Amino acid sequence: MEMGRRDFLSFIMMAGATAAANNRVLAAVTGQSHAGSMAMFAAPPLRELRVAFVGLGKRGPGAVHRFSAFPGVKITHLCDLYKNRAERQNAWLVKNKRPAAKIHFGAEGWKQMLEADDIDLVYNVTPWYLHTPIAVAAMKHGKHVAVEVPAALTIEECWQLVDTSEETGRHCMMLENCCYGEVEMLALRMAREGMFGEIVHGEGAYIHDLRAENYADLNKGGYYDYWRLKHNTAHTGNPYPTHGLGPICQVMDINRGDVMEYLVSVSSRQAGMSEYAAAKFPGSWKAKLAPALGDMNTTVIGTAKGRSIMIQHDVTSPRPYSRINLISGTRGILADYPLRMAFDPGRRGGHSHWLNDKELKKIAAEKRHPLWKSAGEIAKKIGGHGGMDFLMDLRLCYCLQNGLALDQNVYDAAAWSSLCELTEKSARHRGATQDIPDFTRGAWKTTPPLGIVDVDLGKMGLDGGSVKKDGAQLSV
Ligand SMILES: NC(=O)c1ccc[n+]([C@@H]2O[C@H](COP(=O)([O-])OP(=O)(O)OC[C@H]3O[C@@H](n4cnc5c(N)ncnc54)[C@H](O)[C@@H]3O)[C@@H](O)[C@H]2O)c1
Repeated sequence: MEMGRRDFLSFIMMAGATAAANNRVLAAVTGQSHAGSMAMFAAPPLRELRVAFVGLGKRGPGAVHRFSAFPGVKITHLCDLYKNRAERQNAWLVKNKRPAAKIHFGAEGWKQMLEADDIDLVYNVTPWYLHTPIAVAAMKHGKHVAVEVPAALTIEECWQLVDTSEETGRHCMMLENCCYGEVEMLALRMAREGMFGEIVHGEGAYIHDLRAENYADLNKGGYYDYWRLKHNTAHTGNPYPTHGLGPICQVMDINRGDVMEYLVSVSSRQAGMSEYAAAKFPGSWKAKLAPALGDMNTTVIGTAKGRSIMIQHDVTSPRPYSRINLISGTRGILADYPLRMAFDPGRRGGHSHWLNDKELKKIAAEKRHPLWKSAGEIAKKIGGHGGMDFLMDLRLCYCLQNGLALDQNVYDAAAWSSLCELTEKSARHRGATQDIPDFTRGAWKTTPPLGIVDVDLGKMGLDGGSVKKDGAQLSV
């Protein structure tokens, strides 16, 4: 039997070849030019960063507005299925004294857009099923890519992103904004400083009552063509795992010292969506759907270094918003919603207790992440999930403009997104264990952990006074 390309790659990995050797072989197989590991990849600096946006629905316009605040950034193309959505953002640019962009529309407008040679970065804010196809095509056209969460829906798509990024030498960053949340970054700094000891366990979630948005019609604030409701009708498991998972992976050095190896996943029965639809839309097609998505999905992941991670997803129960944000180590714990911390009493003995409000505020101020110290106030002023969206885009621009490795690389995008397919497979088979591929091809053993990153606003020429509160930024 002839060996397929994926089988061949698995074979050379099993044969114990190094990541670099794998990539050289990959180059020979594919005939592409870069074919190197993207683990610490830094592209040549792009002082003038030309950005194209695709997907200008509820989320996209906020990103256009944030990027327009960054010196050295030029928004050159705007694309949406609907012409009027692209035109609306172009009118906003002109009103705000920025050059007009070229617009593209229609189901295949993005293909036409990718032919342009005045694009360095494609920022993809389309429905989930378009994330990988557009990202892969953009990299093949020589563009770096930033893609909304999850970057991919299947293992096959995850590998497409990895293979294409390695072959083309183009960045593929998933826009996991929660990695830039104030609490998440506080936790990362404190963990880096050893305040929780050896990290052994983490818990994260996406618990967000989205019933109204999922069932809403387009003209009443709904998603384009009910794409999320359709996905949740066809699939179960955890289709949106990365908000809780990403920040924990950064704390645990996943893909940079440790790697996720396997998971088990169990979904509860589906009840909330049907009950909601029956009450709100009696007799309508919406009430007749039988969504596959269980109300609550719980996944447990094991890592190579023996750490555990619990991730939940629930978008249908009437629960307050939570990402849990819990990290637990040999000397302490941090948990969120609301923020709490407790530490080993050490020689004092006895059991640990949550810090009181005064102690908590003191430590949170002392240990505020440098990025939040530098740009947190500007970020809060413009808005966007409390400022984290702004900080994510700011760091992305800063790294591209200065030729630095990005905080999240294609291996993070693939590993974190791989839960979409693997949790569904496990949940449909009574929690059967699923192996998580090592998308780094072994490079996790030698890649250094993400540091305590920052930006130099002076170097960027960003003046906080010029940034205004922006109505297009999402709050939850
Ligand atoms: N990171 C976050 O906090 C966060 C928050 C909200 C949404 N998101 C993500 O952003 C993405 C978009 O979500 P949304 O709420 O804006 O959805 P939306 O349905 O409001 O917007 C999607 C847009 O894509 C456009 N589109 C559809 N097909 C297209 C095509 N072929 N070519 C070009 N444009 C096309 C639609 O017209 C629409 O304007 C999703 O991946 C979602 O998960 C992330």
